[in-house]
Amino acid sequence: MKDYRLVPRISEAEIMEQVDRVAEEVNRDYAGQSLLLVGILKGAYVFLADLARRLTMPVEVDFVRLASYGQSSETSGEVRITKDLELPVRGRHVLVVEDIVDTGLTLDWYLRHLKHLDAASVKLCAFVDKYERREVDVPLDYVGIRVPEGFLVGYGLDFAEKHRNLGGIFEVEFLE
Ligand code: PRP
Repeated sequence: MKDYRLVPRISEAEIMEQVDRVAEEVNRDYAGQSLLLVGILKGAYVFLADLARRLTMPVEVDFVRLASYGQSSETSGEVRITKDLELPVRGRHVLVVEDIVDTGLTLDWYLRHLKHLDAASVKLCAFVDKYERREVDVPLDYVGIRVPEGFLVGYGLDFAEKHRNLGGIFEVEFLE
């Protein structure tokens, strides 16, 4: 693998500020209701943990793991579920939690899948809205930060399974 370095992009303090803000919005919008948080593994586990601990309504947490078909590192839009939800969705207010939305193909596919499960409502929350390569318009209800592009790691985001555990968000810069 080529050598690379990590360039700091979003500090841990900035991330926490934005998580606080998103949690306030969710608390305001769902006041008096209970919420099912659906984290999309693996990347969402860090953001979901931070968000969930700031929520004030009754919350249940579940996870789904999605995988793209094909070998390409680019999302193909053909998605399958490799680990499904364990809690029932019917009649629940569902908030889908993602670490990052890039082309939008993964979330778009999952949103269409969820439509068959008769939730009372479905909203989308992504920590990073990386918008420049968006191919399908996914209606993001809550967003931590918006960035145009970049190969980002940390705060759940990986490069070959590494760096998910970093508190801040960094950009991978390959060295010559
Ligand atoms: C990332 C991210 C989203 C998807 C976004 O997951 O968590 O699920 O890619 O890309 P898209 O908008 O172009 O579809 P990844 O497949 O890297 O798996 P991971 O969460 O296990 O790292």
